[in-house]
Amino acid sequence: MSCQQKILASWYVDRALHKGEQAKKKPALVWLETNGCFGESISLLNADDPDLVYLLTQLVEVRFFTSLMGETGEDAFEEIVKATQEEDLILIVSGGIPVGEYETCAIIGHYEDKPVTAYQAVQTVAKYAKHIIAVGTCASYGGPCAAHPNPSNSKSAQDVLKEYSVIKIPGCPSHPTWLIGTLSAIIQFGSIELDEENRPKVFYGETIHNHCERRGYFDSQQFAKKLGEKECLFQLGCKGPLTKASCPYTRWNSSLNWPIGDNTTCMGCASSLFPDISSPYVNFE
Ligand code: SF4
Ligand code: F3S
Repeated sequence: MSCQQKILASWYVDRALHKGEQAKKKPALVWLETNGCFGESISLLNADDPDLVYLLTQLVEVRFFTSLMGETGEDAFEEIVKATQEEDLILIVSGGIPVGEYETCAIIGHYEDKPVTAYQAVQTVAKYAKHIIAVGTCASYGGPCAAHPNPSNSKSAQDVLKEYSVIKIPGCPSHPTWLIGTLSAIIQFGSIELDEENRPKVFYGETIHNHCERRGYFDSQQFAKKLGEKECLFQLGCKGPLTKASCPYTRWNSSLNWPIGDNTTCMGCASSLFPDISSPYVNFE
């Protein structure tokens, strides 16, 4: 199963390299960065195969993406308005969305001299989108944006868009392969197989623990007493058993390493428990 998942994950990404050549018209993309740290955008810059330039020039037609676009102010917002007229529109949301009396904590732009809140923008664009993707743990579950005591009353994209199906790509940040793989799958096939939490099964089908290189130590009950030891990190607070993501074999930074490979615990950053329930991340007692 795990081997199939690995092959399927690389296949989706490989197919992304060919899709651009075949596509007559690329889908329009509106990426709304709401109440987050912009870590999802930074993580996307780390994509390498295919890389960000390929994604932006060959796979999708980026119409609005504050961190990467040249236009600013009303000119930028006009691009959202135009994109809603496209037949094939993908909406990506990164960050939590403040609601109610704290809605104005996230203003994503101005239009006709009026501020537009993240909540208004997400609600409006969603009506026209063929696919909606929440990228990162904040957009997927609330994450750090909604951490106790949640002063901005932030919600996940699905909480704000109850009447729609939102694909979740959690992670703090998410891995660029998870997003690009999902995008290429939905562009080519119209859908991707999701689990009970609406995460793509190919990237979130199994726990970190199932594929961890220290699993042999866990099974033989050999546990590290402090960071830097080679044994299983469970007694130091590792959340690998509670967290589903492909980190052990996708790895990070061009597959160079990953948290447990670098002698730290899995904090469960891709889990709905992050951060309130999964903390403390390291148990020093
Ligand atoms: Fe599981 Fe964490 Fe131990 Fe790895 S280090 S075997 S993920 S508990
Ligand atoms: Fe996050 Fe754990 Fe992967 S902390 S990056 S889900 S190993």
